[in-house]
Amino acid sequence: MFKRIKNGWDAFYARNVLKVPVLGRIVSVQKKVTRMSHEMGELRREMFHLKNSLSSLLSNTLHETRELQNRVQWDYAQMESLFSIYSVLNLKDSLPEMRHSAISPDFARTMVSIILKHKPRLVVELGSGVSTLIAAYALQKIGQGEILSVEHDPVYFETVQRYLSERHLDQIAKVVLSPLEPVKIKGKEWVWYRAGDFAALSAIDFVIIDGPPQYGQPAPMVRYPALPVLYPKLSPHASLILDDAMRDDEKKTLEVWQREFKDFSYRLIETEKGTGVLWR
Ligand SMILES: C[S@@+](CC[C@H](N)C(=O)[O-])C[C@H]1O[C@@H](n2cnc3c(N)ncnc32)[C@H](O)[C@@H]1O
Repeated sequence: MFKRIKNGWDAFYARNVLKVPVLGRIVSVQKKVTRMSHEMGELRREMFHLKNSLSSLLSNTLHETRELQNRVQWDYAQMESLFSIYSVLNLKDSLPEMRHSAISPDFARTMVSIILKHKPRLVVELGSGVSTLIAAYALQKIGQGEILSVEHDPVYFETVQRYLSERHLDQIAKVVLSPLEPVKIKGKEWVWYRAGDFAALSAIDFVIIDGPPQYGQPAPMVRYPALPVLYPKLSPHASLILDDAMRDDEKKTLEVWQREFKDFSYRLIETEKGTGVLWR
């Protein structure tokens, strides 16, 4: 009897009590699995963010690399144009700094080739600087013509006069100090160089438009008056060149001129800052 009871207890013990630690282990393993699957979720989310960050880093790097390649190409194009100018004009003196406010070498190269090809007798420039020197050297090379450059800024006017006299170009190029003042064109008021400074001129063969500066001017299209004001003074085969023609104001100016002055052909050359060329 006693033995049977003992055997029964042993069987119960083996079936149930001995299994308690196993159950405990199963519960703890289950807990671990739950924790791990939670961590896996976290890990998946982190991987997702990491993938997004990596792909935006990659696209930024690609964009910056393309911009850098673009800049290097433009820089190289400016070097080529600068070499071409020095060699075509046989320059012995150095030029003041170009680009930024001044014209870029690729604009200067187009300007020089127009002067060498069309041999203008009278060149008018709006906005003086290194462009005045280069145009004067080109006129010196063809052995004819003069340039009248208008400048609104008294300090810069002195600077350009000094540039010209240091290089003995003052017989070919003259700078005129011409303050900006209101001018009415077809009933609309603009601010432009003093119109009286152009009164005595006629038969202008070539106009270089690089002023007034748009920067700091509240009104748009500050260079628009150039063509309507100078139009009656142009020679029958006159051509014009406009710097910064990739800017919105200058693009708009070219569009309006194109509508209003149909006897000109228009071309926009893709140079560093954009070159607009008008010819008859
Ligand atoms: C677009 S810039 C004309 C630049 C000029 N055609 C040249 O190639 O140097 C227009 C005006 O900005 C001013 N400007 C240009 N370069 C300057 C400089 N380095 N220092 C001060 N003023 C400058 C002058 O008043 C000039 O008429």
